[in-house]
Amino acid sequence: MSDSTRETGTVRAGDSGSGSGRGGGRRRSRQVGLFLVGATLLVAAGLFSPLAGRPVTQPIAFNHHLHVDELSLDCTDCHRYVLTGARATIPNIEVCGECHVEPLTDSAEEKKLIAYVESGKPIPWRKVYRVPDHVYFSHRRHAALGGIECKRCHGPMAEQTQPVTRPAVRITMDACIDCHDREGVTHDCIACHR
Ligand code: HEC
Ligand code: HEC
Ligand code: HEC
Ligand code: HEC
Ligand code: HEC
Repeated sequence: MSDSTRETGTVRAGDSGSGSGRGGGRRRSRQVGLFLVGATLLVAAGLFSPLAGRPVTQPIAFNHHLHVDELSLDCTDCHRYVLTGARATIPNIEVCGECHVEPLTDSAEEKKLIAYVESGKPIPWRKVYRVPDHVYFSHRRHAALGGIECKRCHGPMAEQTQPVTRPAVRITMDACIDCHDREGVTHDCIACHR
């Protein structure tokens, strides 16, 4: 991965040199330069560790299969901004509390949930999928405008009986660009790095 990044980085640097006659070329190459410095610092600071696949443990053992397949909820009933915003967001006590006020089961996990709902304290969910801050990714663009199924990037979530501890599909620059290649979508650095 880092090899091909370096390769494409080199191509871009050459591009902007020869294209400096064009209006945005110079500003763009400066932005990319700044971005590269920033990215190097981020890598040095080890902020990419979630991408390296350290397993994540969630505060409540949420069961997707139960809620999606057995109770017939839609992804968008809980991930409410996935078709309209950049972030899908992970639902919290406001959403869970619509159904879980009184115990529905004798599950210890549900007891934990009700304690959060009653105290009004948000559940400290952790994100498994993430891109670094210098990458722009929009769910609306992909899931709504592009019509791409959640499964292609997240695997079969409706079958999960336990929270995922690592990404089912790794989110890397190569993976983004592979699909953009197949779909004829842009490779421009600035589209993804703002
Ligand atoms: C009842 C609410 C609910 C429904 C319905 C639901 N989810 Fe979730 N989802 C959650 C919760 C809570 C988490 C965080 C805990 C976990 O990872 O299981 C989560 C986590 C995720 C994650 C991991 C996000 C991350 O970075 O940690 C993905 C991906 C996801 N859901 C996709 C889906 C898809 C696709 C569907 C529909 C097939 C769906 N969800 C339906 C509540 C829901
Ligand atoms: C639309 C209603 C609805 C929403 C919203 C909902 N649930 Fe549930 N949930 C249920 C029902 C109904 C059951 C009981 C199913 C059964 O009888 O086994 C349940 C069961 C559970 C259980 C106990 C079973 C188990 O897997 O241990 C947990 C924990 C749970 N839900 C967590 C959550 C969380 C966390 C959220 C918010 C992200 C949430 N639920 C949102 C309806 C809902
Ligand atoms: C083209 C790939 C792709 C598709 C399609 C996609 N996602 Fe994602 N998803 C991602 C990436 C990349 C992230 C990390 C984004 C970030 O860190 O900003 C993510 C993060 C998430 C998260 C964690 C919370 C958040 O907002 O960052 C949830 C939940 C989620 N996706 C649910 C869904 C659901 C539900 C669908 C289908 C309706 C879906 N995703 C479709 C790539 C995708
Ligand atoms: C389709 C989206 C996309 C495009 C286009 C893109 N990138 Fe990336 N890039 C990413 C994502 C996502 C990451 C973070 C994940 C990773 O490191 O693989 C990243 C990470 C990087 C990193 C730091 C990662 C590392 O450790 O190697 C650099 C440097 C980088 N990109 C440079 C570029 C340059 C230069 C271009 C243009 C030739 C470019 N990118 C085009 C999505 C993209
Ligand atoms: C499974 C295929 C697929 C994957 C994986 C994917 N994309 Fe895309 N992307 C698309 C498609 C298709 C579009 C065009 C959607 C539309 O019709 O507007 C798009 C559009 C975009 C755009 C808007 C481009 C423009 O012209 O302005 C950005 C930015 C983007 N993707 C970033 C990313 C990043 C960052 C990743 C990786 C984290 C990623 N994409 C992964 C298929 C994908």
